[in-house]
Amino acid sequence: MKLAPETYILGISGGFHDAAATVIDGHGDIIFAAHAERYSKLKNDANLSDGLIAELCGYEFATVAYYERPWLHNLQRLYSGQRPDSPWTTKGAIRQQLGAWYSRPAGQEVAYPHHLSHAAAGFQTSPFDRATVVVVDAIGEWDTVTIWGAEYDSAGHAVYKKLWGQRYPHSIGLFYSAVTERIGLHPLDEEYITMGMAAWGSSRFSAGRIASELVESVDDVCFRQNLHAGLDPDSFTGYTNEDLAAGAQAVAEQLIYSVMRRARAFGFSTNLVYQGGVALNCLANRNLGDYFETIWIMPCPGDAGSSVGAAALAYGKKLNWRDAYLGREIPGEYPVRACIHSLQHDRICGVASGRAEFGPRALGNRSLLADPRGPDIKDLVNQIKRRQQFRPFAPVVLEEHVSEYFDMPGGWVDSRYMQIVGRCLRPDLYPAIVHVDGTSRIQTVPADGSGIRQLLEAWYAATGCPMLLNTSLNIRGEPMVNTRADADRFEALYGVRVHS
Ligand SMILES: [Fe+2]
Repeated sequence: MKLAPETYILGISGGFHDAAATVIDGHGDIIFAAHAERYSKLKNDANLSDGLIAELCGYEFATVAYYERPWLHNLQRLYSGQRPDSPWTTKGAIRQQLGAWYSRPAGQEVAYPHHLSHAAAGFQTSPFDRATVVVVDAIGEWDTVTIWGAEYDSAGHAVYKKLWGQRYPHSIGLFYSAVTERIGLHPLDEEYITMGMAAWGSSRFSAGRIASELVESVDDVCFRQNLHAGLDPDSFTGYTNEDLAAGAQAVAEQLIYSVMRRARAFGFSTNLVYQGGVALNCLANRNLGDYFETIWIMPCPGDAGSSVGAAALAYGKKLNWRDAYLGREIPGEYPVRACIHSLQHDRICGVASGRAEFGPRALGNRSLLADPRGPDIKDLVNQIKRRQQFRPFAPVVLEEHVSEYFDMPGGWVDSRYMQIVGRCLRPDLYPAIVHVDGTSRIQTVPADGSGIRQLLEAWYAATGCPMLLNTSLNIRGEPMVNTRADADRFEALYGVRVHS
């Protein structure tokens, strides 16, 4: 398909959880990408909300691309004893998401395979011209693990060759979600809390028991039971939740690494593109360098990111990836001076400036920032966040200083979207950003002229400290702040200045 530069493609993911929309133009620029939840204030909102749809109204779309094939998704649900939860046709699913607004004339409508959308979101935003793509998620259509060889042909079109796959109900994501539910957390939402809890427990006894009872074959990613239905609440008694989390993390890592070993053995490329919700497991990600030389995980590897993937497949070629600041804009210069002033006087401040992050992590444009030095700052931030005490806060650090403070795992020279953990070399100085196992979830900031870069440079010049504590700016129980009005509500509730 040949596109005029002024025509646009809309990519949609939705209907299941964490709906999102992406707009790319005929030059391959991602000009907008956002999550429905940031507009509706419903966490992981499954459907495109009115506020998000309003952002799309200024465009005429040549193509609307859906992130999976609705009929196959519904067939899978019927097979697993669930009712279909969306229309069966591509047109119907798109209309369900876009509502009345979509009655206007538009161009073609297409739907792509769920895992191919994941793969395209990763490969076509990556710096690579050839890569091994690994997708590991919970459930979409039937695929649960896929390995692809991806490259561009002589005309620059992305070509994907499927090398291996595993199918429902054998799913690493469903396994991790089942344990998440078993320990009292919300599946398909709070897996990151399970991961944080793992460091407080021991996998010494629990991992072997979990593996022997649930896993049929690590090499082939086969389970003994369908974990979609969850675990018996009375299973694995005698273990603390922390030990179960640690055991699940250890078993998940064995499974993930067996997939990576298999993927590498195809010999297609030493570049890894890793996608799917399981790619958000930054603890497991630390060892990917054992299998691949260079690694790309885009900031939104889960289903929301597949709105980028569907649009990328319709576009067909490499996208011009810039950064993760793709959502709603709060205009104005990044408030560097105001933040420095607040940090020096109050040690903590919010910032809501520029375009909102696409992906689950606040990367500086919708962040609560704090001076990471000293023993008491964690409690100060927790007075606002009221998170479980076992969960650490993350550091955001000038990229050129990262090796002075953190031991970066092999294969990783940066972690611009908080994809990995690394051992903190100075936990004595920065206890607030160090987990109980001595690691930190690192965000590195290159010299890209971004607002958070300017702020870190000014903070370093003023204090000699090249990092800040960074956590998402959100009212408790709500998604991240999106607009200035949201920031005003945050200020009123918590008494913390939020600069724009
Ligand atoms: Fe998925």
